[in-house]
Amino acid sequence: MPKHAMLELSEVTKEYRVGGQTVRALDGISLRIEQGEFTSIIGPSGSGKSTLLHLLGALDTPNSGSIRFQGNEIGTLDEDSQSEFRRKRVGFIFQFFNLLPTLSAWENVAIPKLLDGTGMRKAKPRALELLDQVGLSDRANHRPAELSGGQMQRVAVARALIMDPALILADEPTGNLDSKTGASILALLGEIAGAGNSVVMVTHDMGAVAYCDRVITLRDGRIGSNDSVERSVSA
Ligand SMILES: Nc1ncnc2c1ncn2[C@@H]1O[C@H](COP(=O)(O)OP(=O)(O)O)[C@@H](O)[C@H]1O
Ligand SMILES: [Mg+2]
Repeated sequence: MPKHAMLELSEVTKEYRVGGQTVRALDGISLRIEQGEFTSIIGPSGSGKSTLLHLLGALDTPNSGSIRFQGNEIGTLDEDSQSEFRRKRVGFIFQFFNLLPTLSAWENVAIPKLLDGTGMRKAKPRALELLDQVGLSDRANHRPAELSGGQMQRVAVARALIMDPALILADEPTGNLDSKTGASILALLGEIAGAGNSVVMVTHDMGAVAYCDRVITLRDGRIGSNDSVERSVSA
């Protein structure tokens, strides 16, 4: 086992205050995610899956407990450091793709680089390379409306990869896709994890588990089970 896990959580809690009430969304979460693992987080609606994913990506901070990324605490970063961490270390994939409708596929992929100060001319070749990697080299100039759901999600996967992040976080990436298209996205995420990234995915899709190396179930903000599994479908 390497000295530092990709992610190591210890006794993490997260509460939301709504009106006068406090909702405890995460209630003492401890877990370890290694480099190269494809992990799925499953559990009923409201069990804390999205909250956990947001904390892993420093989109939010815990009320207590520690979250270490490659040995460094990220749970207590200030907002600027959080945003730098997200930009450099994490790629996000969402259920509804979150592509910009007026931009072409390659421009959507290039956005994180452009926001990071890389010029268009330098960003474009890398964006095209990634589109090729996700099987979309012939769709680089299409806008999102001219793509299928599965193709849009492939663009989003390529965009998540362009900063070479160590960690890919996906919230219901197959939730808006038919099962065959969803399976091809899962295979792609499995390949990405196999190449040395860690991929953590929240999903309702029980079939997705077959693509994963670890399955964590949440229930009422606590870990119900955390099992290392053999992938039954490999990329
Ligand atoms: N921004 C928020 N404000 C208040 N309560 C929230 C917020 N986000 C989530 N919650 C509550 O926290 C709990 C966990 O939510 P969530 O992490 O979204 O669960 P899941 O993704 O498993 O459906 C739920 O009870 C939900 O109502
Ligand atoms: Mg959710």
